[in-house]
Amino acid sequence: LAALSGVSAVLGACSSTSEQNGGGGGSAFTNRLRVPPLAKPETGTDGVKTFALTLQAGGRSEFLAGKTTDTWGINGAYLGPTVRASRGDKVRMKVTNRLAETSTLHWHGMRLPAKMDGGPHQMIEPGATWTPEWTIDQPGMTSWFHPHLHEKTAMHVYRGLAGLFLIDDPDGPELPHEYGVDDVPLIIQDKKFSGDGQLDTFRVDGGTFGMLGDTILVNGTYDPFLDVKTELVRFRLLNASNARVYRVGFADNRQFHVVGNDAGPLEKPAAVDRVKISPGERYEIVVRFAPGETVVMDSKGEDRQKANDIEEDDFRLLKIVAAAKPAPSRALPATLGGTATVAPPAGVRVRTFSLSGSEINDKDMDMNRIDEVVPAGALEIWELDNTTYAHNFHIHEVAFRVLDVNGAPPPAYQAGPKDTVFVPKKAKVRLAVQFGGFTDPVSPYMFHCHILRHEDKGMMGQFVVVEPGTEAKVPLVLAGGH
Ligand code: C2O
Ligand code: CU
Ligand code: CU
Repeated sequence: LAALSGVSAVLGACSSTSEQNGGGGGSAFTNRLRVPPLAKPETGTDGVKTFALTLQAGGRSEFLAGKTTDTWGINGAYLGPTVRASRGDKVRMKVTNRLAETSTLHWHGMRLPAKMDGGPHQMIEPGATWTPEWTIDQPGMTSWFHPHLHEKTAMHVYRGLAGLFLIDDPDGPELPHEYGVDDVPLIIQDKKFSGDGQLDTFRVDGGTFGMLGDTILVNGTYDPFLDVKTELVRFRLLNASNARVYRVGFADNRQFHVVGNDAGPLEKPAAVDRVKISPGERYEIVVRFAPGETVVMDSKGEDRQKANDIEEDDFRLLKIVAAAKPAPSRALPATLGGTATVAPPAGVRVRTFSLSGSEINDKDMDMNRIDEVVPAGALEIWELDNTTYAHNFHIHEVAFRVLDVNGAPPPAYQAGPKDTVFVPKKAKVRLAVQFGGFTDPVSPYMFHCHILRHEDKGMMGQFVVVEPGTEAKVPLVLAGGH
């Protein structure tokens, strides 16, 4: 601890707005990292794995020593259990809303029919249970779930409603996979606490970016440490913050490897010393630890000259303590089963989206308006033209590749399949988007900025996927919609 307080003094000096575990306030890393429990499915005679998830308020969490915080959670006081299933599984989710208000539960990253997606149209009234089911058919990946009620997503997520959904692919690469041991999820969120330990919600629905907290929670743990017992550890990073962007790495700037992006594995491990992760994105990384060492995982802001306002602060995230005699790990595979990005052939459809303050193509979200009609199975280029400050962009039910950002291809670690991308201020980003095959002309999927304040303000649009050749017949106004 004596050695560490030296580190905190140095980091504290270059951080201005972060007070608790961000700056000079002294990280003691006193709390053992919580690892969300695995949800236990019931498997019926039909072979369907049924997971019960209950959205509930009234949780009392102890984040800060000696203080209790009122929180919301899924099957618990804060956050949710981790759902884990395999490619090929049939799953049924029994989502019960025990809140006093309407909500939804969206499967971010999941490829499924629009009616099962849990977006703003699949509202769950208080007391009701919603039971979507689908067959998992996509590469191994780290996805997540969170409410998506129009205009209320920021507050519902901030209060604690979110959880992980891991997909295992039996044909996927051999990576560390013992949950909580050498396969550890890290849900990164920033919060602001009031003096009495309550969540400060003042900025959630205000300001340019909404909530930018000064205190980090990882898996709902304040100031956490983690003991690791193996040479290699896989971390599944999820940025479940309302707005903040992190550049995750280690205090000693060690090298580590990215093995997966949002929607599946990379072609081969990509060596990095920092990973930039914006809200909604996931990166799977594999890190090597020397016997007996201690190292701090942290986030280093971009320098303020090119800062995007939401990625300029420094934070310490997690102290990792390695065992003196770690168990040996299987070497990182040379290839991971993903494919390299291939530029789409000439002539594919290009759609352009201008991103401004909180509008897309100068329009606010309208629940009754279909903005784009896409033929099933299409490969398209989506061009994002950001005319203002930083945003990001998420598309439901697709996997895309980032072709370029301001004309330059992304770094190797971001060249895998994704569903969410950071869009720096004033940048042009081109995506090659692979759409799925679930057609439904009257149930839209969403595309939106995943800065939750922007999403709630209307920075969202809707698309339907239809049988090729029927595009012109699709009604662009939803009848009797909400
Ligand atoms: Cu993570 Cu449309 O959401
Ligand atoms: Cu989503
Ligand atoms: Cu935005």
